[in-house]
Amino acid sequence: MTLRLGEWIVVAGALLIGAFAALVATLIYLKPPPAMYGYTESAAANLGETIYKRESCRDCHQVFGNGSTSGPKLDGIGALRSESMLKAYLLDPVPGVGDKAYRVKMPSYARLNQEDRDALVSYLLALSPPAAQNAASP
Ligand code: HEC
Repeated sequence: MTLRLGEWIVVAGALLIGAFAALVATLIYLKPPPAMYGYTESAAANLGETIYKRESCRDCHQVFGNGSTSGPKLDGIGALRSESMLKAYLLDPVPGVGDKAYRVKMPSYARLNQEDRDALVSYLLALSPPAAQNAASP
């Protein structure tokens, strides 16, 4: 059986679509899963999270994909900064800690009471980088 020109075009089109689907499937398969940042739960950290939400830190910061990126992401910040740095930073933020220049300005949280700031720091310290099993996978 011989195919007519129009039939060849349909067959070629179907093969092309099939090859494209296979290519996309391969790319999806090969793409590494997004890094899973950690959170070490504790009463102090959970309290800090409620204050983090109450004070609208999310208007400028992102954690686990939630919030705005007009400021730096805070995923994994607990491994990056020390408790004393974070405590001082909330009182008197100095620009230039982030990885680039930001158009918005980190406000001082000196107006909060000491307990609220300490709770915020507990929350920030609980934000850890991807677990070791992720780092170990190829
Ligand atoms: C109006 C926007 C804005 C709000 C609201 C805000 N931040 Fe920020 N924050 C920034 C910017 C911008 C930076 C980076 C400053 C720089 O490096 O120039 C920053 C930096 C930080 C850093 C330092 C990051 C690092 O890499 O060390 C921490 C921690 C932080 N913010 C926590 C908070 C917390 C907690 C809140 C809420 C209580 C908050 N921020 C609210 C804009 C904001």
